[in-house]
Amino acid sequence: MSVPQLLGSLLVVALVAGTAPSLPAQAGPSARQAEPNTRVPEGDRGHAATVYPDRIATSPAQDAAHGFAVAWRTQASVDAPRLEIVVAGDAPDVSAGNPRVVIAATQALETRNGRSHHHRADVDGLEADTLYAWRVQGQGTWSPWFHFRTATAGAEPLTLLYFGDTQNQNTSLATRVIRQARRQAPEAKLALFGGDLVSGGGAGLGADDDEWAEWFEAASGLPEDIATAPAAGNHEFHKVHAGTPQETPALSPHWPLSFALPRNGAPGWERTTYWFDYQGVRFVVLDGTAILNLDAGPAQAAWLDRVLAGNPHRWSVVQIHQPLYAMRSDRDYAPLRKQLAEVLRKRKVDLVLQGHDHAYGRRALDENAAVPQLVLSVVGAKQYRAGPKALGSMKPVAEDTQLFQVLKFDGEVMRYEARTATGRLYDAFELHADGDQRRLVEIEDGRIAPRRCVRQASLKGRQDRCWE
Ligand SMILES: [Fe+2]
Repeated sequence: MSVPQLLGSLLVVALVAGTAPSLPAQAGPSARQAEPNTRVPEGDRGHAATVYPDRIATSPAQDAAHGFAVAWRTQASVDAPRLEIVVAGDAPDVSAGNPRVVIAATQALETRNGRSHHHRADVDGLEADTLYAWRVQGQGTWSPWFHFRTATAGAEPLTLLYFGDTQNQNTSLATRVIRQARRQAPEAKLALFGGDLVSGGGAGLGADDDEWAEWFEAASGLPEDIATAPAAGNHEFHKVHAGTPQETPALSPHWPLSFALPRNGAPGWERTTYWFDYQGVRFVVLDGTAILNLDAGPAQAAWLDRVLAGNPHRWSVVQIHQPLYAMRSDRDYAPLRKQLAEVLRKRKVDLVLQGHDHAYGRRALDENAAVPQLVLSVVGAKQYRAGPKALGSMKPVAEDTQLFQVLKFDGEVMRYEARTATGRLYDAFELHADGDQRRLVEIEDGRIAPRRCVRQASLKGRQDRCWE
């Protein structure tokens, strides 16, 4: 055994025993500092907007077979830039196809990286299942020509990716998860993000802008290539009147500018709730922060019920940041269950994708029922511990593990896989549809052993977190 290996072993033994060993500096974790939230050095403004379009993201239209929308950013000299789109061909003279031009709507944003302009172009009237080439304009510049395939008009096989909270150290540690997911399922046409994409909190003027830069860096290539549908997490809000009895969450200014989402949400909550249809699946995205903190439960539950009542498809998936059942022992989300559980049961929702509690756990909403399956997952660096209640009611559970999900809808079968940052299978099941009934088939083969946190505290000394 080498000296570093020996020291590492001593340290593990000491940590398990609850005593800190006396070791030379840099010998092991006791000498390490927690990684900062971004890689950006103090005072650096390298993420300021430029003449080049950046932070480019496609999102599905309500009817994803016939439209999508694009959000992008430039320096503040650019107003109402163009998006060009044409059926993709093999020759480099892409423009020979006489691209259609869509003029974007522009809004300004002030951040500590300066003033930037954010653009949104909605493209409608497209042919289903068709590969388009498109690009967006900057100041005397253009983005690359990107490709985007519209959804099929009917229920064809669909692969999608789900990502729980990314939130912290996005460039450093979310990058590898998102890239592994794309390696695992290069055919994925849709990416869902469960909220807390960034840590935020600065009302746009704090570290938010650098964190958003890092999210786009971590996801690089994904939101340009495939339809991206995020939920807003509590960290996409900031606190107004913080520390007073009037404290209330307000949506951070980056959120409505960073994605061009369908504006078809619950009345009053159109910026953070929406739905869309994608190849035989109805997706509904809720705003858990507004339900928990802004009395939006009745409005969102009634809207969810209406949207699901009108679902002509076999499958339905709901995405919400905060989970219906908590992972941590000091948390509970009874108000979410009170507002939403009845609708989820009545409308036979198949799957609820959640985050917020920074670990992995799966359970059904109701014991012995196949659906809805509730999945809580995490991508990022911040890792919590599972409380006894979660350990007793969820299976499998993971701590200290970065994960992503691959979902495949194919006719009467939906296959779900949760994989770790290195691509190893952690959890898998299938739902088999027979009319509106569902049969749950657990897939145990190939799963790795359950993972638990082996540290007593994070590097910052927090015992309620395994890592941060
Ligand atoms: Fe959260």
